[in-house]
Amino acid sequence: MSKIIVRKAGPLSGQVITGGSKNAVLPLLAATLLTEDPCVLDGVPNLKDVEVMCRLLRSFGAEVEQDEGGRRITVRAKTISTSEAPHDLVKAMRASIVAMGPILGRCGEAVVPLPGGCAIGDRPIDLHVKGFVALGADVEVVTDEGGGCVRADGRALKGAEMYLDFASVGATENIMMAAALAEGTTVIENPAQEPEIVDLANFLNKMGARIRGAGTDTIRIEGVERLHGAEHCVIPDRIEAATFMLAAAITRGNVLVENMLPNHVVPIMAKLRECGVQLSEEEPGLRVDASGGFFRATDIKTLPYPGFPTDIQPQFMAFLSTVQGPSNIVETVFENRFMHIDELNRMGAGILAEGRSAIVRGGASLTGAQVRATDLRAGAALVLAGLVAEGETVISDVYHIDRGYEDLVGKMAGLGADIRRVKNGGPVDSVDRLVFAE
Ligand code: UD1
Repeated sequence: MSKIIVRKAGPLSGQVITGGSKNAVLPLLAATLLTEDPCVLDGVPNLKDVEVMCRLLRSFGAEVEQDEGGRRITVRAKTISTSEAPHDLVKAMRASIVAMGPILGRCGEAVVPLPGGCAIGDRPIDLHVKGFVALGADVEVVTDEGGGCVRADGRALKGAEMYLDFASVGATENIMMAAALAEGTTVIENPAQEPEIVDLANFLNKMGARIRGAGTDTIRIEGVERLHGAEHCVIPDRIEAATFMLAAAITRGNVLVENMLPNHVVPIMAKLRECGVQLSEEEPGLRVDASGGFFRATDIKTLPYPGFPTDIQPQFMAFLSTVQGPSNIVETVFENRFMHIDELNRMGAGILAEGRSAIVRGGASLTGAQVRATDLRAGAALVLAGLVAEGETVISDVYHIDRGYEDLVGKMAGLGADIRRVKNGGPVDSVDRLVFAE
């Protein structure tokens, strides 16, 4: 199995280009199942999760073609050969659940193995189920020793008004896609407002759907009889962009992050500025300058968009461990997203966690250690810590990082980091090794 080895190399500098958004492309790929026509997605990142989603689409009978670099994917789901998702792919990637809405909308039935919990939390799907039931589907959740499955039967879905108790990203996407082909109007109150939801709505509207309000606190979907093929370019990955912003900050570097939308990272910009990092919009991106000055602590509370994203909490925590003074971090989105704290503490970060709160002591001088990427963003946080730790940091279980970062090692090295990837003689990394998270 591969490991990433990082050594301190001073401030990062130069330009880095963010790729297409992982969390946008997965539901976009799932949405292609809603039509028999070909759909084309551009700006697709080359990620393990994308590979799993393509395998999932093929398992439903879709033809999936990728151009050489994998950036452009054409999907044609002329017929759907089965409405049942394979167990191994759903287990490999929890986000496979977003295929349920399109399959239900298109075929009138869907069976998806229960994705179950993961390292960062229990991850129930009750809100997805609540949405399908509101649309008139009969939904049965079967639990058995093999993990169980959720079966939905909804041959005549009807638009409905519903309220989500929590603004779940996956549930909002699933309901939008199922409702696109339902009869009548669906209103989702308290939906997720993430940019990835807006991107999905834009793509569905290009396919002929009638969705308004995506990105606000009420989404209205007028069902249509059929959807047609469309072409779409995936939005840039705001979490990858923010990871590079933090790489500049933690190394006290000066980096221009290209192909990013600053209005997607407003809370991260606000918090970096509170800490004393200089940020300026500069064609073609955002300049992050942490090369001078004194950096202060700040407090963070993760929240659904437009609040501070949970997906950048571990990386921000790594940065805060290096600034003067204590910071308080509260994780409200996932119940167990502090697995990286033990690993950061092995490197001398001095973080104390209790329940969903953590106190970062600040002012730590990190030292290299053997650490484990416990999930995708935890892995990114360890890479950031390794950039400023004395000695060598060896990160194992890097398949988590491959799920959501395209060539993180190459991009960091391009900014001057001393970072490399080594194979350790173990089994070749493959999607079968993936563990679902996020
Ligand atoms: C998506 C993102 C993930 C991000 C998360 C929150 C993708 C592929 N992944 O995950 O990177 O961290 O949003 O921003 O887009 N919940 C329920 N019942 C449900 C559904 C969710 O209680 O039916 C809870 C979850 O357990 C969790 C919280 O809601 O505590 C947020 O989950 P959700 O917004 O659904 O996240 P995902 O769509 O899984």
